Amino acid sequence: MALLTKAPKGTYDLLPRDTARWQAVEAVMKSEAELHGFREIRTPVFEHTELFLRGVGDTTDVVEKQMYTFEDKGGRSITLRPEGTAGAARAMLEHALYNEGLPVKLYYNTSCYRYEKPQAGRLRELHQFGVEMFGAADPAADAQVILLAHGAIGRLGLRNITLEINSIGCPTCRARYHQALKEYFSARCDELCETCLSRLERNPMRILDCKSPVCQEIAAGAPKILDYLCDDCRTHFEAVQQYLTLAGVEFTVNPTIVRGLDYYTRTVFEFVSSEPGYSFAIGGGGRYDGLAEELGGKSIPGLGFGLGMDRILLVMQAQQIEFPAEETCEVYLASMGQAAQQKAFVLAQKMRECGIAAECDVCARGLKAQMKYADKIHAQYTIVLGDDELANGKAELKNMATGEKKEISIGDDFIDAYLTLSTEQSDLAF
Ligand code: HAM
Repeated sequence: MALLTKAPKGTYDLLPRDTARWQAVEAVMKSEAELHGFREIRTPVFEHTELFLRGVGDTTDVVEKQMYTFEDKGGRSITLRPEGTAGAARAMLEHALYNEGLPVKLYYNTSCYRYEKPQAGRLRELHQFGVEMFGAADPAADAQVILLAHGAIGRLGLRNITLEINSIGCPTCRARYHQALKEYFSARCDELCETCLSRLERNPMRILDCKSPVCQEIAAGAPKILDYLCDDCRTHFEAVQQYLTLAGVEFTVNPTIVRGLDYYTRTVFEFVSSEPGYSFAIGGGGRYDGLAEELGGKSIPGLGFGLGMDRILLVMQAQQIEFPAEETCEVYLASMGQAAQQKAFVLAQKMRECGIAAECDVCARGLKAQMKYADKIHAQYTIVLGDDELANGKAELKNMATGEKKEISIGDDFIDAYLTLSTEQSDLAF
């Protein structure tokens, strides 16, 4: 039975008491992205498996170990998206968005699926706010995308977050680097885990982000990509740093960042939290100039990032960052008897039509139970309607915080009367 009443491992429910926080964080990210000229894209939650094999890379942990892949009833291999970039790139090519002016600037707020070993901040259903920019090869674009993420993180009030950047070069300098890595790792190949051994020939850079402690210890002494960059990549990386400095953004160059996805070229970056108990990347991204072509499209440079929403919310909670107050019921109209219940029903609807959050009894409960409920939902005001109130056309408006009561007309002028009284009461409270 637990299968029916327990969410699958690595997933969680976002309950009404928590959604206001999420909406507040999403609103900041959306606003920051739109300030930079990005527009929202929504792509399917599943794609052809081939898209991720080609895009993300078949020697990555994500593809080798973590994808939710299945055959559909038509015999196609389908995968739940493990990340947002490949789908956005596919959609950009499919709809030839590059004809609508370059750069194409997209953002998304989506769930992703990775079969990982769940732990704090590591989920099987995770949520990312991401942006992708296509058609901009200049280092100013790298800096702008980083600034966008940096701006959103700053507006959220997050502390103890550092920006770490690196360049992992282009296919030209990568070939020399791969050779150096092969030589280095071959000397200690009998100590590498099985997966890394199989990556040694195909993609030695992937050994650098293996999670096995032994491989990590070996990788720590491996040659660094920065020493192998070609002149163009070095100049590009220096220019990105110059732009970031011009914008007053603090960063450190971390030559060990290689990212876990194969499509990256040149600039890569991560925003890393050092909050005690929450030391992980809250976001990461980089440039991927070969991705569009790898997917069979025309050659278009691209870059972007994904911010881990679940992790950001965790850190914000740990840092006790204040979120906006939840929307609560403004007026609860309680009633005694059927005629009063009908009157409350009509008045509550009138209030909602005027933008006032109003509720009334829909469970045919007694007055005591209704007032208990009004208390639970933190109604700011209550009005009780019974036979006397219906006969007199008047009732009492009670301010639940102060206990103050005022007489209110429940006739045609009800809304005006409410607006006047509620303003007077809040003036009083002020
Ligand atoms: P990623 O580094 O794999 O990059 O994921 C981005 C962020 O998602 C991570 O920094 C982390 O905060 C969060 N994240 C990843 N896996 C999990 C997980 N299992 N549980 C909770 N949070 C997680 C990408 O996905 C790229 N598509 C980013 C990108 C966009 N690069 C260019 N454009």
